[in-house]
Amino acid sequence: MSKAKTESKNTKKETTGNVKIYIMGSAYEVPATLTIMKAMEYAGYKFTRGSGCRAGFCGACSTVYRKEGDFRIYTALACQTMVEDGMVLTQLPFVPADKPTYDINNLTPSANTILRFYPEVARCLSCNACSKVCPQDIQVMDYIQFSLQGQIDKAAEESFDCVSCGLCAIRCPAEIPQYHVAELARRLYGKYLMIAPSYLDERIKEIIDGKYEDGFKELMALSKEKLEERYKNRDKE
Ligand code: SF4
Ligand code: SF4
Ligand code: FES
Repeated sequence: MSKAKTESKNTKKETTGNVKIYIMGSAYEVPATLTIMKAMEYAGYKFTRGSGCRAGFCGACSTVYRKEGDFRIYTALACQTMVEDGMVLTQLPFVPADKPTYDINNLTPSANTILRFYPEVARCLSCNACSKVCPQDIQVMDYIQFSLQGQIDKAAEESFDCVSCGLCAIRCPAEIPQYHVAELARRLYGKYLMIAPSYLDERIKEIIDGKYEDGFKELMALSKEKLEERYKNRDKE
């Protein structure tokens, strides 16, 4: 980026009021205080796909954008990223990465299982493009390498905050759908490696024995207003 363009960009970032952004090629003036998602709605777009929790958890709002005076293509979650003046952006409501089906009950937690369903993992070039693009700041390359080495517990742990936005997969030169690999690793970990807490069996037995039935019935009988009141006044950690 040239110095002149950097200064121009920073000056514009300091302004309040409206900024000019480009959504799928069309220019809009939007308040500078909005996230990309809210700015798109302000501009008149209605999300039928590409929006879910609106809070950074569901990964539905993958966005690709460029900034004025900058040649790079950036990626982000639209609900978590503020607009900037001169932003040129578009939404990716869905990343159609390949996702094999399997029965988790018939697998072993090993590198062979990972490679059976995702042989492309062996092609990882260790370029780290996936980690750089991740809006959750996950070390994506590391969990792919852990998967390849059969370190399923580490792959599960490293990928724990993945929201399945798919942005890593669109940048991968080895065409690895990293987030689906991570999902398999976490499933293998949960099924075969994780030590279940002692209270889990007790809690399941309590549920089967109907300990919470009366509580459920009471909640189901409440009006919407009473239910909201109960929710707002719940015990919080
Ligand atoms: S690991 Fe990939 S799919 Fe998961 S949050 Fe990061 S970029 Fe998105
Ligand atoms: S982008 Fe693909 S090839 Fe590069 S480190 Fe990540 S998984 Fe490996
Ligand atoms: S809408 Fe769920 S992460 Fe953005």
